[in-house]
Amino acid sequence: MTGGGGRGGGGGGNSGRRPDPADLAQLERSPVRWGRVAALFRPFRGQLAVVVALIVASSAVALATPFLIRLVIDEAIPEQDVPLLLWAVGGMLAVTVVTAVFGVVQTWMSTTVGQRVMHGLRTAVFTHLQRQSLGFFTRTKGGEVQSRLMNDIGSMQSVVTSTATSFASSATTVIGTAVAMVVLSWRLSLLSLIVLPPAIWLTRRVARMRRTITAQRQRHLSDLHSQVEEGLSVSGVLLGKTLGAGPVQSQRFAGTSEFLVDLEVRSQLAGRWRMATMSVVFAGIPALIYLAAGLPATSGGMTIGTLVAFTTLQGALFRPLMQLLDIGVSLTASMALFSRVFEYLDLPVDIDDPAHPVPVDPARVRGEVRFEHVGFRYPDGVRPALDDVDVTVPAGSTLALVGETGSGKSTLASLVARLNDPTTGRVLVDGVDVRDMRLADLARVVGVVSQETYLLHGTVRENLLHAKPDATDAELVDAARRAQVHHVIAALPDGYDTVVGARGHRFSGGEKQRLAIARTLLRDPRVLVLDEATSALDNETERAVQAALDEAARGRTTITIAHRLSTVRDADRIVVLDAGRVAEQGAHEELLALGGRYARLAGLAQRDAALAG
Ligand SMILES: Nc1ncnc2c1ncn2[C@@H]1O[C@H](COP(=O)(O)OP(=O)(O)OP(=O)(O)O)[C@@H](O)[C@H]1O
Ligand SMILES: [Mg+2]
Repeated sequence: MTGGGGRGGGGGGNSGRRPDPADLAQLERSPVRWGRVAALFRPFRGQLAVVVALIVASSAVALATPFLIRLVIDEAIPEQDVPLLLWAVGGMLAVTVVTAVFGVVQTWMSTTVGQRVMHGLRTAVFTHLQRQSLGFFTRTKGGEVQSRLMNDIGSMQSVVTSTATSFASSATTVIGTAVAMVVLSWRLSLLSLIVLPPAIWLTRRVARMRRTITAQRQRHLSDLHSQVEEGLSVSGVLLGKTLGAGPVQSQRFAGTSEFLVDLEVRSQLAGRWRMATMSVVFAGIPALIYLAAGLPATSGGMTIGTLVAFTTLQGALFRPLMQLLDIGVSLTASMALFSRVFEYLDLPVDIDDPAHPVPVDPARVRGEVRFEHVGFRYPDGVRPALDDVDVTVPAGSTLALVGETGSGKSTLASLVARLNDPTTGRVLVDGVDVRDMRLADLARVVGVVSQETYLLHGTVRENLLHAKPDATDAELVDAARRAQVHHVIAALPDGYDTVVGARGHRFSGGEKQRLAIARTLLRDPRVLVLDEATSALDNETERAVQAALDEAARGRTTITIAHRLSTVRDADRIVVLDAGRVAEQGAHEELLALGGRYARLAGLAQRDAALAG
């Protein structure tokens, strides 16, 4: 029975699995309510009912084949009954056609439902994660968010739909087949009941053995891979040479490689063993059945047709039975996937829209910003990043934040756009706590130009439109002009339609900054938060960026994290931060006259500028 062996091989590949410990731990940590999973599928009740009906129907229809075989062997052939023969053979063909068509429809429907559910979840998780504060993304390991969104939800479709459909089809096949077997011959069914359990146990055992060895082999292979990567890369070789670690690396490599020799042999052998067991089982059970049927003591006067029909059924029982035994594992894997995704959906949003927002008309905001005794501590911070900062920035004026690295400048600036919320105190715009404004309103009031400018993969136009989707071309060009970047864009091969960003045209640092300024000009916010570039730009670029920034700041309340002396000098007010506290504040001349920290910083900057010039 080579056909049977092949089919069994496919089923045996999944058998003997144990639940993934990581999955079990996940479910332990955050259990999943069945009702919540069911709710996801509720809108597709109709389709799912049809899928189940199709599965049951194909299993039932397939059961006709053995009875048709018996009809052919016991009646049509011995009696040379051609019409009956034609009828029976036609029936067999019809069964295969019907089950095949049912199968296609069922796959189509279950995949559609799976994909729909996945689409819903994917969108929900994306939207929810986007609402998370910046702090969430700094805390989360890079790539983990993306992996959850893409991999977990991606595998959900296959795991969940295949678990559900394979359970339904295995269960109906096993039940239907068992009933038919008893109908054909209760004696042989009894015999099967005795032979099947040890056969299944044996196959599962061998499959499990093989799985262990394969996993070991995989682990060592990946060890070997990383050793090759580490040992034969530029930095790795450099490290090896400078530390004199070359020989040790070689030895380690040889060790892992040697170990693999043995593992590979065992893995191949285990694979062979598995095939061997499968073929013994698949040939052995029918042989035993023939024996029982042939011996006068046990035959019970069975016809040849019944015997053949019975062995056919019996061969079809093995694979679904094994699948049913593994249903627990598939279920655990599916539930763990749901658990992981739900965990993300349940993350509280720490910076969210207020329950009762204060109505604010962004067009009428004057733009006074007030930090009222503001304190802030990062969740993992040892000391507060900000401590009792009390500063008022009158509408339309400019404030320069200066201070040593780590003094809290970026943190203070981040509070205005609610990238962080203060731990104590309040941040007010025109007297309204920013936490009482709708986030969408706040985003229209407060614009941020950070040091690292991020361009989306898309055209220049798309990048600009991202800031203001309804902007006209004239508005885009005007903003780009004012940001001193229009001539750069115009000189590109496709002008405003040149693709930039992740995989497109690369702008220089200064050009990117000016693009970001153009984006901000389009939004026309009343309050502007600027993080000046620390990296030195060449004089000409510097002048262009400065001109763009001046243009952007005109008529707005501007809070600049200043690194250039010129910016600081021209600011209406300067705040010197020291370890999260306001050390000094006032205008340039006042602070110079004070002869304190600012005077020292300014002196240093002057000297640096003189040296650079
Ligand atoms: N995400 C974070 N988690 C924990 N601590 C942080 C985080 N970001 C900043 N800090 C800490 O908060 C303090 C203030 O940092 P901040 O970035 O505001 O300084 P800065 O004045 O902008 O410095 P620089 O001039 O280098 O940009 C520092 O001690 C820093 O280590
Ligand atoms: Mg900073």
